[in-house]
Amino acid sequence: MKITIMKTEHDFDVAAAWRIIGEMLANPKAVIGLSTGQTTGNMHRIVSDIYEKYPFDTSQVTIFNVDELTNLDRSYPGSCYTMIYEQLVKNLRIPEDNFIMPPTLSDDFEKECTLFENRLAARGGADLQMLGIGWNGHIGINQPGTPFEQETWVSPMDPIFEERVRRETNVAPDYPLGGLTRGIVNIMHTRKIVLIAKGESKADIIEKAVFGPVTTDIPASVVQLHPNCEILLDEAAAAKIAGRLPENK
Ligand code: GLP
Repeated sequence: MKITIMKTEHDFDVAAAWRIIGEMLANPKAVIGLSTGQTTGNMHRIVSDIYEKYPFDTSQVTIFNVDELTNLDRSYPGSCYTMIYEQLVKNLRIPEDNFIMPPTLSDDFEKECTLFENRLAARGGADLQMLGIGWNGHIGINQPGTPFEQETWVSPMDPIFEERVRRETNVAPDYPLGGLTRGIVNIMHTRKIVLIAKGESKADIIEKAVFGPVTTDIPASVVQLHPNCEILLDEAAAAKIAGRLPENK
């Protein structure tokens, strides 16, 4: 595991943006998984800015998001489709067929999970996953307790996030919300993972995920077992691990 700590939040955003651009330049047919949330908005916009100034060939790049909300219209500004499309996909002129997302509405989500995975597999599987981490250690939408063998599925959301989505969309308290997420095993089959976190609110969970036991209580701790994983942080998110770093090789 390689740990990279950037001095400021902006340095983090730029470094994370270059992980995405670097993958696209090194591999014009790259299959790249992204994450939505506070952590990734700026870095996606930086990717778009760099592309606008120095365009390169994106015609064969595939982009997908690690997860998507279920049972809400895709036009909801908080849907992963809309966020990733607006922040990056439309600016990079990624062909429509190469933006692979599960639908938000379906009467058979089990089938959608299989289709999503099949579409990624048909492109040779994911090369890179820029992987956010939730306050409770969730990755994608796999909440604490999710087995590491879990395949792509519809998971309950983290309760704090769910509350926000309910507030923003005005759905009834008993309306079923969830998230279609790549399972932990699917995420782990990605050729390269970059676990990303910034800000002091992530400092505790980063310490647990990176230096604590590998346990389903902290889903992100599974990346300790990945053979090609980088942990990319700003100093605030790294506050609890500074001074305890293994030698980077
Ligand atoms: C949501 C997303 C995750 C993301 C996480 C962290 O739960 N489904 O993919 O990693 O939020 O979000 P933030 O970056 O806002 O802390």
